[in-house]
Amino acid sequence: MNEALDFVRSRHHNYIGELTDYLAIPSISSDPARQSDVAHGAEFTAQLMRNAGLDRVAIHPTSGHPIVTGEWLGTPGKPTFLVYGHYDVQPVDPLDLWEKDPFSAHIKDDRIIARGSADDKGQVFMHFKAVEAIIEKDGSLPINLKFVVEGEEEVGSPNLSPFLVDHKADLKADGALVSDTSMWAEGIPAITYGLRGLCYLEVELTGPNRDLHSGTYGGAVANPVEILARLLASVKDASGRIQIPGFYDRVVVPTDKERELFRTIPFHLADYKARLGVEDLWGESGWSPVEQTWVRPSFEVNGLWGGYTGPGAKTVLPAKANAKVSMRLVPDQHPDEIADLAERFFKERAPATVTVKVTRHHGGHPVVASLESPFVAAAERALRDAWNREPLFIREGGSIPIVADFRTILGLETLLLGYALPDNRAHSPNENFHLPTMFTGIESLVRLYYYLAG
Ligand code: BES
Ligand code: MN
Ligand code: MN
Repeated sequence: MNEALDFVRSRHHNYIGELTDYLAIPSISSDPARQSDVAHGAEFTAQLMRNAGLDRVAIHPTSGHPIVTGEWLGTPGKPTFLVYGHYDVQPVDPLDLWEKDPFSAHIKDDRIIARGSADDKGQVFMHFKAVEAIIEKDGSLPINLKFVVEGEEEVGSPNLSPFLVDHKADLKADGALVSDTSMWAEGIPAITYGLRGLCYLEVELTGPNRDLHSGTYGGAVANPVEILARLLASVKDASGRIQIPGFYDRVVVPTDKERELFRTIPFHLADYKARLGVEDLWGESGWSPVEQTWVRPSFEVNGLWGGYTGPGAKTVLPAKANAKVSMRLVPDQHPDEIADLAERFFKERAPATVTVKVTRHHGGHPVVASLESPFVAAAERALRDAWNREPLFIREGGSIPIVADFRTILGLETLLLGYALPDNRAHSPNENFHLPTMFTGIESLVRLYYYLAG
């Protein structure tokens, strides 16, 4: 193991170069114009796997973007892990807020800045480099690995669940390993044991059969934009509680013991606010910000439009109003059931002056992972040894929909070991990845692979 760790330390410069090439590929899964770039991302991922020394590297076409697999099964008798990540990235807009081109990575203050650097190419890359170092020095791995790296995570993984069903036998393993979450802070590693689920809807209200002159009709005809604003504002009461009937019915309330653990998390309110540039926070009363984002469901308006938004003033009473809304879910809420409840809420509460159309986008189930396994202990030890401090056990507010499928389809528990930092700006302009964290993180993965062998 020590030789592999030394090898990692000697390769920092090469890592930056290779990661820069990976990040240069604009593999934006949601943009149809980027389809060939996403395919290129799959090929580059496959090449990284081959270079690492993985066998049977394959690119599987789907009706969307390809899935890349590769494996090392040369250590019979030792556990097998399914390593999952994604090579697709989020769109880059607003482009003018980037300091430089999002796909030509540059380094500033120890951070590599580019779309996909933290989410998730940089973290997938770390696993390849840990494998490469061990195979380079030992000629074999201490455990067996099956990699599944997809190109559709950022669009809800529509083709990965069917792939898991079709390849169930091939993907047999003892556990799944995912690096697509965050550490608590620089120097404070974390094991994530819970993720929220997601239900995403688009709401469209239609009033009159065309945009109207606001002078001729204003005052007599209901304005869909105003109605939508009222509807959205009525989703929460003054204490931040969501008013959709039945919304909380399946919510599992954390135990006193878990809430006690949350109080030990080093959360600094003043830092948190300062980093976000807000004077104050607002959320469901009775819960701390850590709890509000980890164990309580939420409702957000992601986008809201309607009527005239161009230059100058146009007097118009718009025919339509639209919103994209999402709800983060916690166990045991079900995305389809929540979509039904929310749809009913908007349809029943809207006045007869408008019609309501609700369109469903991708969703995902929440997960809480079991901590009662020797693999979790191995992960704890790997992080502790790499950073010289105890890792925290955290939950996160984001979603990785496929993790629930690993359990239901493949029967696997997932170990979530993330290396992003809270200020990595995932999904935002100037996304970045902290290089010293990446280097130490690769060492922690080398250790993990050894420790998981038992
Ligand atoms: N890596 C994130 C998930 C994540 C975010 C985990 C924050 C922990 C903290 C993932 O790439 C992502 O962005 N997921 C989407 C869901 C998907 C269905 C688009 C999300 O959480 O919005
Ligand atoms: Mn991700
Ligand atoms: Mn993401």
